[in-house]
Amino acid sequence: MNLIAEKSDNLHGRIRLPGDKSISHRAALLAAFSAGESRISNFLTAGVTTPLLNALTSFGISWKLFGDILVVQGRGITGWDTPARVIDCGNSGTTLRLLAGALATVGIRATLDGSPGLRRRPMNRIIEPLQKMGVNISGDDGHAPLRLEPAGAVINGIDYHLPVASAQVKTCLLLAALNAEGQTTLREPGPSRDHTERLLKGLGVSLVNYSREITGSNSALELVQNLERQYITTLTPQHPAHLPSFNLQIPGDISSAAFIIVAALITPGSDLVIEDIGLNPTRTGLIDALVNMGADIEIQKQGERMGEPYGTVRVRYYPLSGIDIYGELVVRMIDEFPAFSIAAVYAQGTTVVSGAEELRVKESDRIAAMCKELKILGIPIIEKPDGFVIPGNSKPSGGQVSAHGDHRLAMALAVAGLQASAPVRISGAEIIAESFPTFSEVLRSTGADLTIEEDS
Ligand code: S3P
Repeated sequence: MNLIAEKSDNLHGRIRLPGDKSISHRAALLAAFSAGESRISNFLTAGVTTPLLNALTSFGISWKLFGDILVVQGRGITGWDTPARVIDCGNSGTTLRLLAGALATVGIRATLDGSPGLRRRPMNRIIEPLQKMGVNISGDDGHAPLRLEPAGAVINGIDYHLPVASAQVKTCLLLAALNAEGQTTLREPGPSRDHTERLLKGLGVSLVNYSREITGSNSALELVQNLERQYITTLTPQHPAHLPSFNLQIPGDISSAAFIIVAALITPGSDLVIEDIGLNPTRTGLIDALVNMGADIEIQKQGERMGEPYGTVRVRYYPLSGIDIYGELVVRMIDEFPAFSIAAVYAQGTTVVSGAEELRVKESDRIAAMCKELKILGIPIIEKPDGFVIPGNSKPSGGQVSAHGDHRLAMALAVAGLQASAPVRISGAEIIAESFPTFSEVLRSTGADLTIEEDS
């Protein structure tokens, strides 16, 4: 499928977006761990969540979708069936890494595999710490397929420094820690998203986020730890590990909103409101970056559901200035660089992104892929090992570009086309359905000129 994006006039309207991808994954999995019926509203039904739901079926967990309401009959942490077949995690790194941790706790034999793209992504980051906990897991030279066997002895808690800030790794280990012997402490170099911690706390698990809860250090140790900027999570398992069932309404996905926000910021005269969107501070890095670039964005927090803040975002067109992005902000906007790069293209002045080498192991090598496609559109972007430089003051030319099998790259290129000097045609755009199946429909409802061209 090709998606064609053309010059659009001001974008207007009030919109709501499909549920947050990360919270959808976690909610479905924790519901499967509970001992009763859970009801999850605004669940993201998309390419990335289908493999998780299918996997739950393979483990004997029943679930039903009523529109976007997912109802799950949990089977606790000991009642899962051994699957008859290899579990196909599709393109979803979250499904694979979270399931590995969950299965360590459940203690059944299973093989987790996925698409060729998923097989390329690094898995030693979960294999090594899980093995240290005593989990019987092996990979194929640090990659999927991953094989899990019931551990011979009990699984132990762990005190572990994550080499990269990663919520997928952290969540994998927290799920494995739920039924382990002794505490687990995870130390991260940056503030990766903390949805798992918020949900687990909401379900009564004894968990402390050190850096978030202890501010204004008053002991020498705390001071040193804060100076080192560690993000520390400690989970103390309760035996028997038992999670209650729950009802949750998932907020709209801020990572999907990112494309709409940037579209409005580059389209003169735009004024858009996005309702019921997730505002977890570990996810709002893009908004902070854009506000620092001069963007006109108003945030109204409305409340919290199971610890997850949500509210309304209003965004109006405003000319942006270039910015330097590095350090913790990179972690807080890790999925937003494709969208962000389009804001930088239209900004006045240079934007420099550094310390973002993690982008090379996402759904595509996002640094290489963005540089390649933006150059096709005439943008003089410069590739760096750990980021990129965009000189700004540019207007993309039109042209034929490729999604590289990456949903976020496809959406970013579509947004780039809304103010380009000629149409931008994105091949492989069906991949958008991985995370935001209604992207074209939603953006078109605000006035964007997007056309879908099916393959003949
Ligand atoms: C996710 C965490 C991020 C992110 C991914 C979803 C999650 O990956 O890129 O899209 O749900 O935990 P890392 O935590 O590995 O950076």
